[in-house]
Amino acid sequence: MTRQPMVAGNWKMNKLTGPAVELAAAVKRGVGTRTDVQVVLCPPFTALKVVAEVVARSPIRLGAQNMHWEAEGAFTGEISAAMLRDVGCEFVILGHSERRAGFQESDALVNRKVCAALQAGLTPIVCVGETLAEREAGQTWTVVTRQVRASLAELKPEQLRRTVIAYEPVWAIGTGRTATPAQAQEVQALIRAVLGELGDGATAQAIRILYGGSVKPANARDLFRQPDIDGGLIGGASLDAAAFLEIIGAACRE
Ligand code: 13P
Repeated sequence: MTRQPMVAGNWKMNKLTGPAVELAAAVKRGVGTRTDVQVVLCPPFTALKVVAEVVARSPIRLGAQNMHWEAEGAFTGEISAAMLRDVGCEFVILGHSERRAGFQESDALVNRKVCAALQAGLTPIVCVGETLAEREAGQTWTVVTRQVRASLAELKPEQLRRTVIAYEPVWAIGTGRTATPAQAQEVQALIRAVLGELGDGATAQAIRILYGGSVKPANARDLFRQPDIDGGLIGGASLDAAAFLEIIGAACRE
């Protein structure tokens, strides 16, 4: 089974429109016409439209970092899946640990968002991962299995196939403390096994599972060489075009 590797840049709450355009243009120049790695940029909501214009007619795809689960209505401050589609998004990051921890997003709520995204034709990038306390208590497998099962509850195999998973151990995010390739592979193989139970073996083999958490040019290649790591969800290093492009280069399957 060959899964197209993917590298997505999660810009988080960074970049005003001017610098966002510059960064997207630099990534576009570096990516050129390459399609061996799927490149996705996830700027903040306010920069989606300008970045969409920069990456139009390039292989680079656009994603958002969050959305609401309802289609429309009285939800002050929220953004719907249709609004994301309207400005050119094809992807949306859901259930990031910064939202689970800072905005009380439960697995059930993430599941509602995943269903809404799929229904609207967006590809969700669903984040899961344990905290340091959970890892040290030996709960990594329990926590990650629960997050995968509950966040993807009720999805049909066809919908599972359109979903991307990102394993992001919370203790590795923004800390410079990356999971070792073996640590990440171990959990990602477990995630694929859980996906097999939710769907079937062929579905599990088709789903891309990214690793996220302090991925840098220096460690990307060893991580991406692992059989169940299909690319990365990159935070800090995606804000620097040269570093991000190096990570993209590391994701191609030689
Ligand atoms: P860093 O790459 O900055 O650790 O962030 C990872 C992340 O949270 C991507 O979603």
